[in-house]
Amino acid sequence: MTIHKRYRYFILILVLGLLITVSIVFGADRGGKTTWAKGVKPGDCHVCHGENVKLPDGHPNTEDMMFPDCKQCHTKQKNQLETKILLSHIHNLSGITCSQCHEMNKFKRKITSKQCIACHGDYNTLADITKDADPNPHKSHQGKLDCNLCHHQHVKSVNYCSQCHEWPLNVP
Ligand code: HEC
Ligand code: HEC
Ligand code: HEC
Ligand code: HEC
Ligand code: HEC
Ligand code: HEC
Repeated sequence: MTIHKRYRYFILILVLGLLITVSIVFGADRGGKTTWAKGVKPGDCHVCHGENVKLPDGHPNTEDMMFPDCKQCHTKQKNQLETKILLSHIHNLSGITCSQCHEMNKFKRKITSKQCIACHGDYNTLADITKDADPNPHKSHQGKLDCNLCHHQHVKSVNYCSQCHEWPLNVP
């Protein structure tokens, strides 16, 4: 007896559904390359990184944490986190989604400073927030630089001023 046509479709949909679920759950660490798997909690490092997470042994479980939770232990004065994890993670842990920067998830399109400023305020506001930093990275003879000259999201940030100056600026 052959399987009824309706059931064949049902089984096909079931198998497809299973495949999609499997690829979402296990798709994060393909061949050693970490990717942004969908639907993973930002603090659940191990799902995306496996054993490669750079958390010290005995570190509290971060699975259900968001950035404000991290800041209870990681402050600017003690165990500063900003320069240790990427900004992509700080944004992710702050509930900012990919498409809030990459409009319509067009990843090749350049992110402009205007987009950053829409959330963080303009150079005057930023200069005020970092007025205690010496030198103030947001107020200098270099004027209103593109944010991305210092702050990167998916790779380590850099100190643009260090081309000419030797100040140790810790760029988050
Ligand atoms: C209950 C306190 C606590 C909380 C909450 C916490 N941490 Fe930590 N974390 C520590 C301590 C203590 C260290 C070890 C200090 C050090 O060596 O820098 C550490 C170290 C780290 C390191 C390694 C730093 C390095 O020097 O390489 C990372 C990365 C890190 N934490 C990320 C996070 C993230 C992300 C969160 C939130 C999702 C978080 N932590 C929440 C206490 C905490
Ligand atoms: C706060 C803004 C911001 C958020 C949020 C963000 N990105 Fe990005 N993304 C950037 C910027 C800026 C660049 C350019 C390179 C850099 O600074 O690292 C970039 C570059 C990229 C690129 C490389 C594009 C190319 O040139 O080939 C990819 C892919 C990407 N992002 C994916 C993602 C994904 C997936 C997410 C969500 C998990 C995400 N981004 C979240 C700002 C962001
Ligand atoms: C949709 C709003 C949004 C956009 C767009 C955005 N950010 Fe953010 N950003 C946030 C939030 C929210 C935080 C977490 C703030 C906090 O808790 O300190 C954050 C954190 C940061 C921090 C770390 C602050 C700290 O705690 O030290 C830096 C640096 C930063 N963003 C730079 C950028 C840059 C550069 C861009 C543009 C490529 C950008 N942001 C785009 C919302 C945004
Ligand atoms: C010359 C490098 C440089 C450029 C360009 C730059 N920043 Fe920063 N930014 C820094 C440094 C360094 C810090 C950390 C200052 C400190 O230690 O207080 C910082 C801190 C920040 C913070 C965290 C402030 C806080 O303490 O809460 C935000 C948000 C931020 N920058 C956003 C931006 C945005 C948005 C732009 C573009 C309009 C930008 N920055 C351009 C170097 C830069
Ligand atoms: C949803 C997937 C995802 C989660 C969850 C995640 N990461 Fe990542 N992580 C990535 C990706 C993808 C990269 C590569 C850089 C990028 O695209 O921003 C990365 C890069 C890194 C890097 C720098 C590259 C390296 O391996 O040295 C560190 C450190 C890191 N993550 C630590 C963490 C920590 C700590 C947590 C938990 C608080 C975490 N990640 C949670 C996907 C994730
Ligand atoms: C292309 C090279 C160049 C870059 C990049 C540059 N500067 Fe300068 N800067 C100079 C020169 C040249 C002087 C004047 C000579 C001097 O006093 O060292 C100067 C002087 C200064 C001074 C006053 C003198 C001092 O040493 O205290 C400050 C403050 C300063 N720069 C801040 C910055 C900041 C912040 C950045 C990054 C946003 C930056 N500069 C990037 C070349 C540069």
